[in-house]
Amino acid sequence: MKGALSANGVPLVEIDELKVYFPIKSGLVLDRHVGDIRAVDGVSLEIRRGETLGLVGESGCGKSTIGRAIMRLYEPVEGRIVFDGVDVTHLGERELRPLRRRMQMVFQDPYASLNPRHSVGRIIGEPMRVHGLATRRDIGGRVRELLNVVGLPADAAARYPHEFSGGQRQRIGVARALGLNPDLVVADEPVSALDVSIQAQILNLLESLQAEFDLTYLFIAHDLAVVRHISDRIAVMYLGTIVEVSPADELYSRPLHPYTIALLSAVPIPDPKVERRREAILLPGDLPSPANPPKACRFHTRCPFVQPTRCRDETPRLRELASGHTVACHWAEKIEAGEIQPHEREAVFQAPLPEPVPELPPT
Ligand SMILES: Nc1ncnc2c1ncn2[C@@H]1O[C@H](COP(=O)(O)OP(=O)(O)O)[C@@H](O)[C@H]1O
Ligand code: SF4
Ligand SMILES: [Mg+2]
Repeated sequence: MKGALSANGVPLVEIDELKVYFPIKSGLVLDRHVGDIRAVDGVSLEIRRGETLGLVGESGCGKSTIGRAIMRLYEPVEGRIVFDGVDVTHLGERELRPLRRRMQMVFQDPYASLNPRHSVGRIIGEPMRVHGLATRRDIGGRVRELLNVVGLPADAAARYPHEFSGGQRQRIGVARALGLNPDLVVADEPVSALDVSIQAQILNLLESLQAEFDLTYLFIAHDLAVVRHISDRIAVMYLGTIVEVSPADELYSRPLHPYTIALLSAVPIPDPKVERRREAILLPGDLPSPANPPKACRFHTRCPFVQPTRCRDETPRLRELASGHTVACHWAEKIEAGEIQPHEREAVFQAPLPEPVPELPPT
């Protein structure tokens, strides 16, 4: 069953209060640690076996850092990452090796992630050989099978990445990941660089492979339109934190966090009646710096529903408002009931808006 727990009763991936910071160095030889980019700042999340979890938020909010931290490409400063019941947070390279095969990544720019000097056959086949999943003799046959599975001709094996279109290159990247027979695929904006017409083909491919190969997906995207149909659940991120997690359909029909509401207001809705009634909410200002995030509710400097004192004084925790639907906003119920309307921010505060976030120190 999709989204079911694994046999041992635990999700495939559990992230607990994860923090991943990048140090900001200063001084002539960059020897002074003057601060941190708090790319991921206290994220708890689970990815259930067999599901697709969509992870959405604007550029720079920490999506890729979560994906790469799960793959153990970054060392967390705090928190825990558990993969299939094993705490991998601080495992060394040797212990990680057998687990690495089980988590694969598909990237936004397939060209940058495919070695241009290697044939497609080698790109797909070599990882299988390195991990002992195919012998030299049967590797050619395995590569041809994989090419077939991702919809590429068998003669692609002898050709080179530059001979393929963006969509075909993404298929090569998918075949390479599949060759290792992974449990988890972290797809980091896998269609963001592709033409809209090609996007649907790759999404359909990923979806059909999921059932066939028992895959669990963490699917990262910067807009809500892309993840809608492929996701079982969606987590919305803002500035290093998760602000809402919901079953996918429910997120679109019943968004609860003001940030999600604003993001959705920019997604075209196929129904013209709904479309006419809808108003795009433009968020004021830029994404604040993750080196110095706003206090309490991180969204309070841009939130169209912001209320005095509490939003700026108290950090909202994720609360479950419906089954499987959690939101980190103090006022979600009142906003949903229409008791708080989006407003001109200045009118709400007697006090001036918070200070603009200072620039990062020179690095
Ligand atoms: N390797 C790195 N070193 C320093 N800063 C980084 C690194 N990777 C990401 N960042 C910073 O961390 C923040 C989150 O980045 P990222 O996870 O790539 O966001 P997203 O994928 O949502 O666009 C950004 O401010 C980015 O500049
Ligand atoms: S807690 Fe306040 S500032 Fe934060 S999202 Fe809710 S209403 Fe907006
Ligand atoms: Mg990214």
